[in-house]
Amino acid sequence: MRERRIAPSILSADFARLGSQVEDVLAAGARVIHVDVMDGHFVPPITFGAIIVGALADRVHGAGGMLDVHLMIERPERQVEEFARAGADNVTVHVEATPHLTYTLAAIREAGCTAGAAICPGTPADSLAEVVAEDVLDLALCMSVNPGWGGQTFIPASLGKLSRMREALPGAVALEVDGGIHGETAGPVADAGANLLVTGSAVFGSDDPAAAYTAIAAAAGAV
Ligand code: DX5
Ligand code: ZN
Repeated sequence: MRERRIAPSILSADFARLGSQVEDVLAAGARVIHVDVMDGHFVPPITFGAIIVGALADRVHGAGGMLDVHLMIERPERQVEEFARAGADNVTVHVEATPHLTYTLAAIREAGCTAGAAICPGTPADSLAEVVAEDVLDLALCMSVNPGWGGQTFIPASLGKLSRMREALPGAVALEVDGGIHGETAGPVADAGANLLVTGSAVFGSDDPAAAYTAIAAAAGAV
Protein backbone atom coordinates (compact mmCIF):
# COMPACT_ATOMS: atom_id res chain seq x y z
CA MET A 1 0.00 0.00 0.00
CA ARG A 2 3.01 2.32 0.11
CA GLU A 3 3.66 1.99 -3.60
CA ARG A 4 2.46 4.82 -5.80
CA ARG A 5 -0.71 3.56 -7.46
CA ILE A 6 -3.82 4.77 -9.21
CA ALA A 7 -6.99 3.31 -7.68
CA PRO A 8 -9.90 3.37 -10.15
CA SER A 9 -13.22 4.00 -8.38
CA ILE A 10 -16.13 1.94 -9.67
CA LEU A 11 -18.52 4.74 -8.67
CA SER A 12 -18.29 6.06 -12.24
CA ALA A 13 -18.39 2.64 -13.93
CA ASP A 14 -21.19 1.36 -16.14
CA PHE A 15 -22.91 -0.93 -13.63
CA ALA A 16 -24.52 -2.97 -16.38
CA ARG A 17 -20.96 -3.95 -17.41
CA LEU A 18 -19.19 -3.74 -14.07
CA GLY A 19 -17.24 -7.00 -14.29
CA SER A 20 -15.77 -6.32 -17.71
CA GLN A 21 -14.96 -2.69 -16.87
CA VAL A 22 -13.02 -3.81 -13.81
CA GLU A 23 -11.27 -6.46 -15.91
CA ASP A 24 -10.24 -3.75 -18.38
CA VAL A 25 -8.44 -1.67 -15.77
CA LEU A 26 -6.90 -4.75 -14.13
CA ALA A 27 -5.53 -5.73 -17.54
CA ALA A 28 -4.09 -2.21 -17.90
CA GLY A 29 -2.20 -2.70 -14.63
CA ALA A 30 -4.55 -1.45 -11.90
CA ARG A 31 -4.13 -3.39 -8.65
CA VAL A 32 -6.23 -1.27 -6.28
CA ILE A 33 -9.96 -1.14 -7.02
CA HIS A 34 -11.75 1.54 -5.00
CA VAL A 35 -15.33 0.82 -3.90
CA ASP A 36 -17.43 3.78 -2.69
CA VAL A 37 -20.14 2.74 -0.26
CA MET A 38 -22.72 5.45 0.55
CA ASP A 39 -25.67 5.12 2.91
CA GLY A 40 -27.96 8.09 2.22
CA HIS A 41 -27.19 9.44 5.71
CA PHE A 42 -23.50 10.30 6.03
CA VAL A 43 -23.77 11.47 2.41
CA PRO A 44 -27.04 11.95 0.51
CA PRO A 45 -26.62 9.28 -2.19
CA ILE A 46 -27.05 5.55 -1.67
CA THR A 47 -24.73 3.35 -3.73
CA PHE A 48 -24.16 -0.31 -2.87
CA GLY A 49 -23.00 -2.58 -0.09
CA ALA A 50 -20.96 -5.68 0.59
CA ILE A 51 -22.75 -7.63 -2.13
CA ILE A 52 -20.78 -5.71 -4.79
CA VAL A 53 -17.51 -6.35 -2.96
CA GLY A 54 -18.38 -10.05 -2.98
CA ALA A 55 -19.26 -9.95 -6.68
CA LEU A 56 -15.85 -8.47 -7.59
CA ALA A 57 -13.63 -10.27 -5.09
CA ASP A 58 -12.59 -13.29 -7.17
CA ARG A 59 -11.89 -11.21 -10.28
CA VAL A 60 -9.79 -8.66 -8.42
CA HIS A 61 -7.92 -11.13 -6.21
CA GLY A 62 -7.36 -13.46 -9.16
CA ALA A 63 -5.51 -10.65 -10.94
CA GLY A 64 -3.37 -9.98 -7.86
CA GLY A 65 -5.36 -6.87 -6.96
CA MET A 66 -6.95 -5.58 -3.79
CA LEU A 67 -10.38 -4.17 -2.95
CA ASP A 68 -10.14 -0.80 -1.26
CA VAL A 69 -13.51 -0.13 0.39
CA HIS A 70 -14.32 3.49 1.26
CA LEU A 71 -17.25 3.54 3.68
CA MET A 72 -19.16 6.81 3.53
CA ILE A 73 -21.65 5.53 6.07
CA GLU A 74 -22.64 6.40 9.61
CA ARG A 75 -21.52 4.07 12.42
CA PRO A 76 -19.26 2.05 10.13
CA GLU A 77 -18.16 -0.14 13.04
CA ARG A 78 -21.42 -2.06 12.63
CA GLN A 79 -20.55 -3.11 9.06
CA VAL A 80 -16.86 -4.02 9.27
CA GLU A 81 -17.37 -7.78 9.60
CA GLU A 82 -19.69 -7.97 6.62
CA PHE A 83 -17.30 -6.15 4.27
CA ALA A 84 -14.34 -8.22 5.49
CA ARG A 85 -16.28 -11.45 4.90
CA ALA A 86 -17.25 -10.27 1.41
CA GLY A 87 -13.58 -9.90 0.42
CA ALA A 88 -12.49 -6.35 1.28
CA ASP A 89 -8.72 -5.99 1.70
CA ASN A 90 -8.70 -2.44 3.03
CA VAL A 91 -11.61 -0.79 4.82
CA THR A 92 -11.57 2.98 5.29
CA VAL A 93 -14.02 4.77 7.58
CA HIS A 94 -14.65 8.47 8.06
CA VAL A 95 -13.51 10.08 11.31
CA GLU A 96 -16.69 12.20 11.11
CA ALA A 97 -18.93 9.09 11.03
CA THR A 98 -18.12 7.35 14.31
CA PRO A 99 -17.40 8.34 17.90
CA HIS A 100 -15.32 5.16 18.23
CA LEU A 101 -12.49 5.56 15.74
CA THR A 102 -9.76 3.64 17.59
CA TYR A 103 -12.13 0.76 18.28
CA THR A 104 -13.32 0.70 14.66
CA LEU A 105 -9.80 0.66 13.19
CA ALA A 106 -8.75 -2.12 15.57
CA ALA A 107 -11.87 -4.08 14.60
CA ILE A 108 -11.00 -3.71 10.90
CA ARG A 109 -7.57 -5.20 11.53
CA GLU A 110 -9.03 -7.97 13.67
CA ALA A 111 -11.32 -8.82 10.76
CA GLY A 112 -8.21 -9.37 8.63
CA CYS A 113 -8.12 -6.12 6.62
CA THR A 114 -5.89 -3.07 6.65
CA ALA A 115 -7.48 -0.09 8.39
CA GLY A 116 -8.00 3.34 6.85
CA ALA A 117 -9.36 6.63 8.20
CA ALA A 118 -10.70 9.35 5.90
CA ILE A 119 -11.12 13.05 6.53
CA CYS A 120 -13.45 15.43 4.70
CA PRO A 121 -12.17 18.75 3.30
CA GLY A 122 -13.43 20.64 6.36
CA THR A 123 -11.76 18.32 8.86
CA PRO A 124 -8.32 19.40 10.12
CA ALA A 125 -5.23 17.60 8.78
CA ASP A 126 -4.10 16.65 12.27
CA SER A 127 -7.32 14.78 13.14
CA LEU A 128 -5.57 11.41 12.88
CA ALA A 129 -2.87 12.13 15.46
CA GLU A 130 -4.42 9.99 18.20
CA VAL A 131 -4.99 6.90 16.06
CA VAL A 132 -1.46 7.23 14.68
CA ALA A 133 -0.18 7.33 18.26
CA GLU A 134 -2.29 4.25 19.06
CA ASP A 135 -0.71 2.50 16.05
CA VAL A 136 -4.04 1.32 14.60
CA LEU A 137 -3.81 3.08 11.23
CA ASP A 138 -2.57 1.65 7.90
CA LEU A 139 -3.97 4.29 5.53
CA ALA A 140 -5.00 7.94 5.77
CA LEU A 141 -7.45 9.22 3.16
CA CYS A 142 -7.60 12.93 2.38
CA MET A 143 -10.82 13.85 0.57
CA SER A 144 -10.05 16.44 -2.08
CA VAL A 145 -13.77 17.00 -2.80
CA ASN A 146 -16.76 16.81 -0.47
CA PRO A 147 -17.71 13.13 -0.40
CA GLY A 148 -20.84 11.86 -2.12
CA TRP A 149 -20.40 12.38 -5.85
CA GLY A 150 -17.99 11.68 -8.65
CA GLY A 151 -16.93 14.29 -11.19
CA GLN A 152 -16.37 17.22 -8.84
CA THR A 153 -13.54 19.74 -9.09
CA PHE A 154 -10.36 19.15 -7.07
CA ILE A 155 -10.11 21.50 -4.07
CA PRO A 156 -6.69 23.22 -4.45
CA ALA A 157 -6.14 23.58 -0.68
CA SER A 158 -5.87 19.78 -0.60
CA LEU A 159 -2.27 20.03 -1.83
CA GLY A 160 -1.03 21.78 1.30
CA LYS A 161 -3.16 19.50 3.45
CA LEU A 162 -1.64 16.41 1.85
CA SER A 163 1.88 17.71 2.55
CA ARG A 164 1.03 18.35 6.20
CA MET A 165 -0.55 14.92 6.54
CA ARG A 166 2.40 13.16 4.91
CA GLU A 167 4.81 14.95 7.21
CA ALA A 168 2.88 13.88 10.31
CA LEU A 169 2.31 10.25 9.28
CA PRO A 170 4.74 7.41 9.98
CA GLY A 171 6.44 6.10 6.83
CA ALA A 172 4.51 2.83 6.93
CA VAL A 173 1.10 4.55 6.69
CA ALA A 174 -0.23 5.04 3.15
CA LEU A 175 -1.64 8.43 2.11
CA GLU A 176 -4.58 8.28 -0.28
CA VAL A 177 -6.27 11.18 -2.06
CA ASP A 178 -9.81 10.99 -3.43
CA GLY A 179 -11.74 13.42 -5.61
CA GLY A 180 -11.01 15.36 -8.77
CA ILE A 181 -7.91 13.36 -9.74
CA HIS A 182 -7.11 13.33 -13.47
CA GLY A 183 -4.15 13.92 -15.78
CA GLU A 184 -3.52 17.44 -14.50
CA THR A 185 -3.96 16.91 -10.75
CA ALA A 186 -2.30 13.47 -10.48
CA GLY A 187 1.28 14.80 -10.66
CA PRO A 188 0.82 17.58 -8.07
CA VAL A 189 -0.92 15.32 -5.49
CA ALA A 190 1.82 12.72 -5.89
CA ASP A 191 4.44 15.45 -5.41
CA ALA A 192 2.57 16.55 -2.27
CA GLY A 193 3.00 13.07 -0.81
CA ALA A 194 -0.08 11.05 -1.80
CA ASN A 195 0.78 7.53 -2.96
CA LEU A 196 -2.71 6.12 -3.63
CA LEU A 197 -4.65 8.24 -6.11
CA VAL A 198 -8.35 7.47 -6.51
CA THR A 199 -9.80 8.28 -9.92
CA GLY A 200 -13.44 7.74 -10.76
CA SER A 201 -14.82 9.79 -13.63
CA ALA A 202 -11.42 10.36 -15.27
CA VAL A 203 -11.11 6.59 -15.81
CA PHE A 204 -14.62 5.14 -16.08
CA GLY A 205 -16.15 8.29 -17.56
CA SER A 206 -13.76 7.92 -20.48
CA ASP A 207 -14.53 6.00 -23.68
CA ASP A 208 -11.46 3.88 -23.05
CA PRO A 209 -10.97 3.27 -19.30
CA ALA A 210 -7.79 1.22 -19.80
CA ALA A 211 -6.12 3.98 -21.84
CA ALA A 212 -7.29 6.65 -19.37
CA TYR A 213 -5.87 4.59 -16.51
CA THR A 214 -2.52 4.25 -18.27
CA ALA A 215 -2.31 7.99 -19.01
CA ILE A 216 -3.08 9.02 -15.41
CA ALA A 217 -0.65 6.45 -14.03
CA ALA A 218 2.05 7.91 -16.28
CA ALA A 219 1.19 11.48 -15.19
CA ALA A 220 1.54 10.43 -11.55
CA GLY A 221 4.68 8.35 -12.05
CA ALA A 222 2.72 5.41 -10.63
CA VAL A 223 3.66 1.73 -11.03
C1 DX5 B 1 -16.59 10.61 -3.87
C2 DX5 B 1 -15.90 9.27 -3.88
C3 DX5 B 1 -14.84 9.14 -4.91
C4 DX5 B 1 -15.31 9.33 -6.34
C5 DX5 B 1 -14.25 10.16 -6.98
O1 DX5 B 1 -17.26 10.80 -2.70
O2 DX5 B 1 -15.30 8.97 -2.64
O3 DX5 B 1 -14.10 7.93 -4.77
O4 DX5 B 1 -15.44 8.14 -7.07
O5 DX5 B 1 -14.72 10.55 -8.23
P1 DX5 B 1 -13.91 11.51 -9.18
O6 DX5 B 1 -12.57 10.85 -9.44
O7 DX5 B 1 -14.77 11.57 -10.39
O8 DX5 B 1 -13.76 12.82 -8.48
ZN1 ZN C 1 -13.91 7.17 -2.52
